[in-house]
Amino acid sequence: MNSKIIDRREHLLGGSLSLSYSEPLHIVRGEGTYLFDVEGRRYLDCVNNVCHVGHCHPRVVRAAHEQMQRLNTNTRYLHETVLNLAERLSGKLPDHLNVSFFVCSGSEANELALRLARSATDRRDVCVLEGAYHGSTGTLIELSPHKFRGTGGFPAPDHVHVAPVPDGYRTAREVPPPSRAAHFVDLLETTLSQAAARKRPIGTFLAEAMPGCAGQIDPPAGYLQQAFQVARAAGAVAVADEVQTGFGRMGSHFWAFERQGAVPDVVTLGKPIGNGHPLAAVVTTRAIAEAFDNGMEYFNTFGGNPVSCAVGLAVLDVIEEEGLQEKALATGEFLLAGLRSLQRRFEILGDVRGAGLFLGAELVRDRETLEPADSEAQRLVEYAVQRGVLLSTDGPGRNVIKIKPPLVFSQADAERLLETIEAGLAG
Ligand SMILES: Cc1ncc(COP(=O)(O)O)c(C=O)c1O
Repeated sequence: MNSKIIDRREHLLGGSLSLSYSEPLHIVRGEGTYLFDVEGRRYLDCVNNVCHVGHCHPRVVRAAHEQMQRLNTNTRYLHETVLNLAERLSGKLPDHLNVSFFVCSGSEANELALRLARSATDRRDVCVLEGAYHGSTGTLIELSPHKFRGTGGFPAPDHVHVAPVPDGYRTAREVPPPSRAAHFVDLLETTLSQAAARKRPIGTFLAEAMPGCAGQIDPPAGYLQQAFQVARAAGAVAVADEVQTGFGRMGSHFWAFERQGAVPDVVTLGKPIGNGHPLAAVVTTRAIAEAFDNGMEYFNTFGGNPVSCAVGLAVLDVIEEEGLQEKALATGEFLLAGLRSLQRRFEILGDVRGAGLFLGAELVRDRETLEPADSEAQRLVEYAVQRGVLLSTDGPGRNVIKIKPPLVFSQADAERLLETIEAGLAG
């Protein structure tokens, strides 16, 4: 059955698209934390941080349907929906982040953030963290070591500067934990000053507060706060990429940068903001927005259309009304405790980290050498899918099991996930 659709796909779509799992799934329906395949088999989704309030949430579907029936246009007409969404987002962010732009993907959001920062600083060079992924456009692939250092990659272009990722598990183990944030900030400062010495001063520092593709890294507390200060002192605009981590996923905070005490100049939002609908946004300061407003119109055909904005408002309503941030905190703590107890029993589970429902479990063959257990991680993912639980791997060694389910993930879902991981590690 699946071989027919795989053949069609190979003929009709580009070969650089990938499929998950050795036996690809033919998914035809989603509901809450579950996906259903063409034969009605149900899978617990532990990886989709896009369908943030649950697959096909009726409230979000209704908002899209009702607005779609009435009108869908662009931001060249007056419409209150886009203003209401901008107001709600500003209300969730620090006071100085109060000017919004709406776009259709995380990549577009980071592209625009870069244009804003370049207008504000008149500098082209960008600093990113090792292992980062920031989007699929030509410009952003050049800013994504996760891609350009991998298969089919290329050397970092001259305007791209890569600072070490603040991964206290794999590096800086010799540095005592209380000094680790300062250690990684020093390394960032070195990257910034070396660039300046080469007459390539950095105009943008673009970072995630909890780097996802780099391996669900949880930086030492306060790292990003100091990193943003150091970047600003060097004349750069500090951009927080919240495309994966925003909207309450951290549990303790609505945004991941808040958990680090960091103050960005620009934030980019994507994935969860539309619960699967292609909506994304950039929020910045009045001063940066004014520097960008040089007479050239910014027009985005679909960005900020009334249907997308109605969806964005419904997502925020559901997060608040269903207490999903609080739920992420409680379920996340339960999962972390469960994973840490497995870590005590299974040598291969070298590190467990993260916050709320953005967690990583790093598999290593040896707790001293930290040799990545990539094939073992892959085997665990395959074991889980056979039992109806969807997981995936990330990180440069492909050995980090990432856990980032829709926030409606329940205690029972978490118990099932832990039982599956335990059985997979024991087998
Ligand atoms: C941190 C981060 N930024 C940006 C993007 C790009 O978002 P999109 O795929 O919506 O263009 C991604 C996508 O995975 C991401 O993980």
